[in-house]
Amino acid sequence: MGKILVTGGAGFIGSHTVVELQNAGREVVILDNLSNASEKVLGRIEAITGKAPVFYKADIRDRQALDDIFSKEDISAVIHFAGLKAVGESVAKPWEYYDNNITGTLTLVDVMRKHGCKNIIFSSSATVYGNPAFVPITEECPKGQCTNPYGWTKSMLEQILSDIQKADNEWNVILLRYFNPIGAHKSGTMGENPNGIPNNLMPYITQVAVGKLKELGVFGNDYDTHDGTGVRDYIHVVDLAIGHVKALDKIDEKPGLKIYNLGTGQGYSVLDIVKNFEEANGVKIPYSIKDRRPGDIAECYADASLAEKELGWKAQYGIREMCEDSWRWQKNNPNGYEG
Ligand code: NAD
Ligand code: UD1
Repeated sequence: MGKILVTGGAGFIGSHTVVELQNAGREVVILDNLSNASEKVLGRIEAITGKAPVFYKADIRDRQALDDIFSKEDISAVIHFAGLKAVGESVAKPWEYYDNNITGTLTLVDVMRKHGCKNIIFSSSATVYGNPAFVPITEECPKGQCTNPYGWTKSMLEQILSDIQKADNEWNVILLRYFNPIGAHKSGTMGENPNGIPNNLMPYITQVAVGKLKELGVFGNDYDTHDGTGVRDYIHVVDLAIGHVKALDKIDEKPGLKIYNLGTGQGYSVLDIVKNFEEANGVKIPYSIKDRRPGDIAECYADASLAEKELGWKAQYGIREMCEDSWRWQKNNPNGYEG
């Protein structure tokens, strides 16, 4: 068994996955250009697991750097998190998103095949379902129209990786469609570290709680949901990380092409999250109702039974722990990895 290359391994989901991989005895090599991450996370990973991961500061579009890493390290599989992920920014900078995410992935898989490494786990998203044809969403649900270039990069990369696997069945490709990752490591030393004002719900709430932002804007209360606010399937980042460890075990079985939803199967509205956060942490979250955010959908939650059946994976953490852990991270690190 060779080493596991984790692209984007210094980021939010990547760093938590590196911890779980090392806990499971896997040897990890991280590649990250630090465009949306801090090198300080490496020390946090070492403090938790007792082992410093090998780290390369490099870009997935840099063929020479990739070639050097694959020549030097005995890589048997890649978990590919590296990518840009800010929805609004992707609308303003589509070229940058297509270049980073698509050119980057094409370069990565080309170098992989040249070095005979044909095993990849890819970070996809429930965003590929667009406005889902039905909920709970199974993997059979047709892919839909994305509302932004970020979403299209995920949808297109799924297609590209599927076509590559179809043309050469030595490839093993697992596409993991994440629902809404939140939470943080129990230690309170690793978590999400968004640049500027957060776009996503939980980091916005924790920044209101810590006093950096005044109040939460709730984007619409006239959706067809139990309280009118948008419903999503929030999943603890550590559960998501463990999902990757299980997917890697599956890769060892040479499965060809597989697609799994990683969610809890439970939907919560924006106001449910506010209430759970307040109850779990004893902190008040002032909010006001705003207009709907363009591109948002009413409801999105997973049927995650395929991952349970085929990977033996099921989310363990509930909403209370997600709220507690998100808050512990924010409270202990009001400025993320900068202190
Ligand atoms: P993140 O920004 O914290 O992590 C991505 C990492 O990739 C960062 O550390 C960044 O520095 C690095 N990176 C970006 N472009 C790179 C490049 N060209 N070369 C090398 N490194 C590069 O984001 P995350 O939340 O951990 O997301 C990880 C993956 O999961 C992404 O592909 C994201 O699109 C996907 N995803 C995230 C969510 C979510 O809600 N967080 C949901 C669905 C899918
Ligand atoms: C968004 C992206 C999705 C991406 C995911 C993770 C869109 C349309 N979708 O999903 O592509 O994969 O983030 O990065 O942007 N909300 C508020 N107030 C806020 C923030 C959010 O009310 O300040 C609401 C939203 O309307 C939504 C829910 O909270 O109902 C969750 O929002 P968010 O955390 O941004 O995730 P998604 O929109 O599901």
